[in-house]
Amino acid sequence: MAYLALYRVWRPQRFDEVVGQEQTVTALRNGVRENRLAHAYLFSGPRGTGKTSIAKIVAKAVNCEQPQEGEPCNSCSCCQDINNGNFMDVIEIDAASNRGIDEIRDLREKVRVLPAQGKKKVYIIDEVHMLTMEAFNALLKTIEEPPESVMFILATTEPQKIPATIRSRCQGYNFRRLTMEEMKGRLKQVADANQMVVEPAALDIIARRANGGLRDALSTLEQVYSYRGEQISKEDVLDVLGLVDDVFLSRLIDGVWSGDSGQVLQMLATALQQGREAQQIARETTWYLRDLLLYHTTGQDTGFAVVTEASIAALQQHKKAGTARILQALRILADTADKLRFSEGQRFILEMAFLEITALFTREEPPATVSKKQPSPVKTAPVGRREPKEARDTMWNKILAGVKERKIPTHALLCQGRLLGMKDDTVYIGYRRGYKFHKERMEEKPNRDILAEVLQEITGRPLEIQFIFLDDDQYNDIVVQKAKELFGEDIVEIKD
Ligand SMILES: Nc1ncnc2c1ncn2[C@@H]1O[C@H](COP(=O)(O)OP(=O)(O)OP(=O)(O)O)[C@@H](O)[C@H]1O
Ligand SMILES: [Mg+2]
Ligand SMILES: [Zn+2]
Repeated sequence: MAYLALYRVWRPQRFDEVVGQEQTVTALRNGVRENRLAHAYLFSGPRGTGKTSIAKIVAKAVNCEQPQEGEPCNSCSCCQDINNGNFMDVIEIDAASNRGIDEIRDLREKVRVLPAQGKKKVYIIDEVHMLTMEAFNALLKTIEEPPESVMFILATTEPQKIPATIRSRCQGYNFRRLTMEEMKGRLKQVADANQMVVEPAALDIIARRANGGLRDALSTLEQVYSYRGEQISKEDVLDVLGLVDDVFLSRLIDGVWSGDSGQVLQMLATALQQGREAQQIARETTWYLRDLLLYHTTGQDTGFAVVTEASIAALQQHKKAGTARILQALRILADTADKLRFSEGQRFILEMAFLEITALFTREEPPATVSKKQPSPVKTAPVGRREPKEARDTMWNKILAGVKERKIPTHALLCQGRLLGMKDDTVYIGYRRGYKFHKERMEEKPNRDILAEVLQEITGRPLEIQFIFLDDDQYNDIVVQKAKELFGEDIVEIKD
C-alpha cells in the first residue's frame, strides 16, 4: 500500500482551504489585503488545528508577487519557493528541537538585515513555549522594536508557558478544536479524492478519536488505509487503533449495572482473548462512562468520545445508574487504567476493578461482621476510592458461594483459607499452618475440581490453583510478602 502522507498533501495552501478557524482566517486575510498586519502574532491552540499551516499562508500572502483578495497565488516564484521551503526570508524555527538558543541569537544579529528575496522577513517560531529564558529575553528585545520589514508568528500548544511580557506584545489568536462535522467533512473529501470507501461509522470514530485535531484524524485514516486498503469499515478502525467497540462497552456496562459479575468477567475474558489490551479496555470504559455523564448532564447526543449511533439507545437505560455512582465507577477505572500502565498481572487488576464497580450496583449480603439490620455498606458507601481488598473480598465471597452451592463440606474446607490473588492464570489461596488438614484436603482432586469449576464459571476461563502455607507466627508479614512477590505492591492490602 502506497505511503500517501495525507496530512502533508492536504495542508491548506490558501486561506480558503482552511477548515474552520473562520475568525482567525478572516482577520488575517483582511489584514493582508488592507496591509495592516501586526508585526507579531501568537497562535495558540491544540495540536493539528492549523497553526503552522496558517502561519505559512500568511508568510506567502505577504510576500506573494500577485496576491488576490489577501490570498497568496501559489504560482509566483515567491509562493513556490515558500511552499518548497526554499525561500530565504521565511525562517522556520522549531523551538522544541534545541530550545532555540542558537537560532534566537542568530535572529538578533540578522533581523535588521533587509529581506533578500521578498518583501518581508517572516519568522515562524513553532512550539515557542519551549524556548529557554535566555532565548525568550533575546526574542523580547527584538519584538519590542522590530524593523518594518520583519514579522513574527509564534505558535504554541501551551500559551500559559509563555512569559506575559512576550504575550502582551503579540496579537493573539486562539485556534479551536475542529468540530465533528468539520473533521468528518474533510476526512470524506480526502477519502473521496483517494478512492477510499469509508463507512460513515468509521469516519465517526476516526473523527471522534482525533479530538478536534485534523492532523491526527488524517494520520489515522492513512494508517487504516495502509492496513486495510480502500474499503474501510468501523471494525477496521477499531482494530487498527486497538479500540474497544462501543456496543461491547455498552453491553459490558449492562452487566455491571445489573450486578452480573459473571457476565462481566466473561466479556472481559472474550475481549482479552481477541487481543484487546487490558489498559485499553479500562480506558475505553472510562470514555464510555464520561460520555454517559455528558449525556446525563446535557441530555444531548453530541460531543461523545466513544458512543456512536450503534450504542446510543443504551445510554437512556444506563443513565439510571445516577451521577454519583457513575462518577465513582469512573474514578475506579481511571485509577485502574493508570495502574495498568506499570503492572504485571494486568488481567487480574482489570477483573478486580470491574468486580469492584459491579459491586457498586449489587445489593449483596453485607460481610458477616455487619448486622443484617444495618443498611448495606455498598449502597451507602461514600463516593470515593474503595480498596482493592474489597474487590478481592467480593470475588472471594462469590467463590465461596459457588462452592457452597455444589458441596458443603468442600466449602467448609475452603472457607478457612483466603484468596491471595491471581497471577498468570493461577489463583493463589493461603492457609495458616494450623489449617494443614484443610489445605491438604482441598488439594485432593475432588475438592480441587469443584473449586476449579467455580473459578471457571466466575472468570470464564480455566485457571490453575495453588494452595500456599502462611506461617502462623509471622502471619501478616508472610502473607503480605508473598502477595507482594506475586502481585506487586499495587494490589496487595492484606490485613488480619
Ligand atoms: N484547520 C485546518 N484546515 C485544514 N487542514 C488542517 C487544519 N488543521 C490541521 N490540518 C491538517 O493537519 C496538518 C497539520 O496542521 P498544522 O501543522 O497546521 O497544525 P498545528 O496546529 O501547527 O499543529 P502542532 O501544534 O502540532 O504544530 C495539516 O497539514 C493539515 O493536513
Ligand atoms: Mg505546528
Ligand atoms: Zn504568489
